[in-house]
Amino acid sequence: MIDVGERFETATVHIGHSPLKQVTSKSTPIYQTSVFAFDGLEEVEKYYAGEGEYLYTRNGNPNQVELADAIARLEQAEAGVSAASGMGAIMAGLLSILSPGDHVLASHEIYGGTYALLHKELSRFGIELECIVLDQGTRLSDHVRPATKLFFLETITNPLLTVVDLPQWIRQAKELGLTVMVDNTFATPYLVQPIAFGADLVVHSGTKYIGGHSDVTCGVLVGNRALVKRAAEIVVNYGASLSPFEAWLTARGLKTLAVRMERQCDNAKEVARFLQSHPAVSRVYYPSDEATSFFTRQKQGAMVSFTLKEESKIYDFYRALDWIQFAPSLAGVETSVSHPVTTSHRAFTEEQRLATGITMGLVRMSVGIEAVDDIVSELSRALRN
Ligand SMILES: Cc1ncc(COP(=O)(O)O)c(C=O)c1O
Repeated sequence: MIDVGERFETATVHIGHSPLKQVTSKSTPIYQTSVFAFDGLEEVEKYYAGEGEYLYTRNGNPNQVELADAIARLEQAEAGVSAASGMGAIMAGLLSILSPGDHVLASHEIYGGTYALLHKELSRFGIELECIVLDQGTRLSDHVRPATKLFFLETITNPLLTVVDLPQWIRQAKELGLTVMVDNTFATPYLVQPIAFGADLVVHSGTKYIGGHSDVTCGVLVGNRALVKRAAEIVVNYGASLSPFEAWLTARGLKTLAVRMERQCDNAKEVARFLQSHPAVSRVYYPSDEATSFFTRQKQGAMVSFTLKEESKIYDFYRALDWIQFAPSLAGVETSVSHPVTTSHRAFTEEQRLATGITMGLVRMSVGIEAVDDIVSELSRALRN
C-alpha cells in the first residue's frame, strides 16, 4: 500500500489504488485506463526499445491485444490488430497497402461503407477504385494494370448473400501479384478462414457475429505480420483505437461464437426453407450447398434475404412484426430484419438498385438463436397481412 500520509485530500486520490497487487482472475479484467504507469525512466526506455508492452491506450492496451490475438488465431493469421469499428479496421488494412496512384479491384457487391471509403475518401488521395462483377465470364487479368495493388472481396455479400468461389478468385489475384483482402464479417472464421486460401488480410466488423449481442462497435484486422504491423501504426496515427471496454465486451462475445453460429445457421436454414415455399414470397436469397462447398462446415450462414411478391405490402409486413425488431444491423442473438433500400443502400440510384436486384420489396433478415418455430410463426403471421 502506498503511504499517502494523513491528509484526506491526498488519501482520497491514492488510497484505493494498488496497481502492483498480483491476483489471478478467471476472466480478463478490463484495463480501463488511458495510460500506463512506469517505475522509472529506465522502464520508459525499455518500452521504446521494444521490451515493454504498454504506454498509452491509443497505442495499445491488453484488452485490444487479447481480442486481436484471438481472432488472429481463429483465422490462422500471423498477427492481428483491433480498431474502433469495422470501418476503422478496413481503413487501416487499405492504407497498409495503398499509396497515391494505386488502383484497387473490388467486387461490385461490397458493403456500402467500404465503397464510400474507397470511392469518396481514398480517391481524394489518388487511389482509384474499379468494381467488377465476379461471375464466370470475368477474368481479373482483363482488369489488372501496372498500378493495381489490391483485390478486395467479401465472403458472403450484403444484402443478396452471394458467395463467390473464394479459393478460385484468390488464386487468380495471387497469380497476378495482387494483395488480397477479404471481409469475412458475414461468414466468420467458424465457417471459413480465407487465409487458408492465400488471402493476405482478413477483416471483420466485430460489431456483428464476433461480438454477437448488438452492444459493441468494433473492428479487427488479421493477416500477414508486416501488413498488420503497418496497419497497427495506422490505427494509432489516425486515432482509430478500440476502447478497452468495447474490446472486453467483444472478447466476451467471442467465447460463444461457435454455439451462436451453429444455432443461428441451423435456424436460418429452416427459415429459408419456410420462405422458399411461401406464396407471398417471390424469391429467397440464401447461399446454396454448392456455393459454400469450400466452407469448413456444411452450413450456409445465418442471414436470409427475400422479396415480397407484392412490393406494395412491404410497409404492412414490417408493421405486422411483433417481437422481431427492425434494426439496420445484423448478427445479434435476437432475430432482426432490415430494409436495404431505405437503410444500407439508400444512396443507390434507382438504376443501381435495379441492376443489383435490391428492390423495394427486399427484406434482409438476421436470424437469431430463438426457437425456430417461433421465428417461423412470427414471419408467417406478418406475411399473411
Ligand atoms: C460486411 C461489413 N463490413 C464492414 C462493416 C462496417 O462495420 P462497422 O459498422 O463495425 O464499422 C459492415 C457494417 O455493417 C458490414 O456489414
